[in-house]
Amino acid sequence: MHPSSQTPTSTNTMSWSPASWRSRPIVQAPSYADEAALAAVEARLHRYPPLVFAGEARRLKTRLAAASRGEAFVLQGGACAESFDEFTADIVRDTFRVLLQMAVVLTFAAKVPVVKIGRMAGQYAKPRSSNTETVDGVTLPCYRGDIINGPEFTPEARIPDPARMETGYFQSAGVMNLLRAFAHGGYANLHQVHRWNLGFVERSPLAARYQDLAHRIDETLSFLRACGFDGSASQIDETEFYTSHEALLLPYEQALTRVDSTSGDYYDCSAHFLWIGDRTRQPDGAHVEFLRGVQNPIGIKVGPTTTVADLEKLLEILNPKDEAGRITLISRMGKDKVRDHLPPLLDAVNRTGRTVTWLCDPMHGNTTTTASKIKTRSFDNILGEVLGFFDVFEAIGRRPGGIHLEMTGQDVTECIGGAQCLTEADLGGRYETFCDPRLNAEQSLEMAFLLAQELTGRAGKKE
Ligand code: PEP
Ligand code: CO
Repeated sequence: MHPSSQTPTSTNTMSWSPASWRSRPIVQAPSYADEAALAAVEARLHRYPPLVFAGEARRLKTRLAAASRGEAFVLQGGACAESFDEFTADIVRDTFRVLLQMAVVLTFAAKVPVVKIGRMAGQYAKPRSSNTETVDGVTLPCYRGDIINGPEFTPEARIPDPARMETGYFQSAGVMNLLRAFAHGGYANLHQVHRWNLGFVERSPLAARYQDLAHRIDETLSFLRACGFDGSASQIDETEFYTSHEALLLPYEQALTRVDSTSGDYYDCSAHFLWIGDRTRQPDGAHVEFLRGVQNPIGIKVGPTTTVADLEKLLEILNPKDEAGRITLISRMGKDKVRDHLPPLLDAVNRTGRTVTWLCDPMHGNTTTTASKIKTRSFDNILGEVLGFFDVFEAIGRRPGGIHLEMTGQDVTECIGGAQCLTEADLGGRYETFCDPRLNAEQSLEMAFLLAQELTGRAGKKE
């Protein structure tokens, strides 16, 4: 496919254009003081090469469609907010590596392919619950993510700067390049499965469990080799890895939107998968309008305030033809609400007969603040929400589509609990997130083992 910026040949976009969101009400948008500087950056971004290809986004759609039928399981994970300062090969590699490990654990349990999607290579814009931040009596505009302004608590850093969009683009390109190299250049080869367990996780009790699984994979590969299979199929040597972020900063997303010459459709070529956040999902709002016209697979965060009427409206607007794989609903209710709030929404979608893939985001409804005002999440509450989500699906005899986590490959101390039993007192150690608290590498792997246990146990019960 050759992305270009010509007029699309198909007519399925009806009065939509990459700029039509501009006439809709918008929330969570920065206001840039220098309009000329903003326009210049947008024009440059519009000329730059796409970061992903439409064909890849279409392939992801077929994978998500499989997950909607229970024939695949989605693992979406990465930082709450990527940072311009933390642009190193190690950080990208470590998150990628933990996602690979988790995927292996989940594949063994779910017995279906695991669709791997990183919150990576573009997750730089953040919706905020308050427009300002007050520290020691001083109030400044809030931090909105590195692609908009800076995290430092100074008036200068908090001014939205359009030049940051260009930095975001180039940094996304760098991360994407590395991810492609890891996925296709040998690192993700299943023969390397033992080597993914390097680093501090090696000292944890989970390491032995993981090594045991790695041995079983080795044995299976040796058996296949003995049968004459030479072990060099692309399914073994390489992995499919997709990128995603919240489509929040619309001038950036618009500038990276291209017409795919194969289909004549518009794709937002900033990432394979884009989602609409819980704060920007107004059916008549700018974010929904923008995503309506691009043909990427789209996520919609579904929270405790989502009504059946709004959800039905959103599905009609964003997927009028009920294309399989187009819509992924990401439930983020909180552990005490998921059992009550999810079933009516799930029933409503099932009643309309629409095809969607349901993921559980057990992070965003379970954020708490400690007495010393540190944002954290407890491992038990995160797990509690996933179990509630699985229960809701088990009750209707359906397989859940997957999981959406905020996590990192680093040894951070941001979420409490888990095998290391991190406590509030430990949060000061390595609290490095630029936004929400993430599971560290060990907690992420532990979560994968616990989910695997659930998936296996529940599948067993049905047989
Ligand atoms: C997020 O995924 O980082 C986020 C802000 O989520 P939500 O929109 O569900 O609050
Ligand atoms: Co977050």
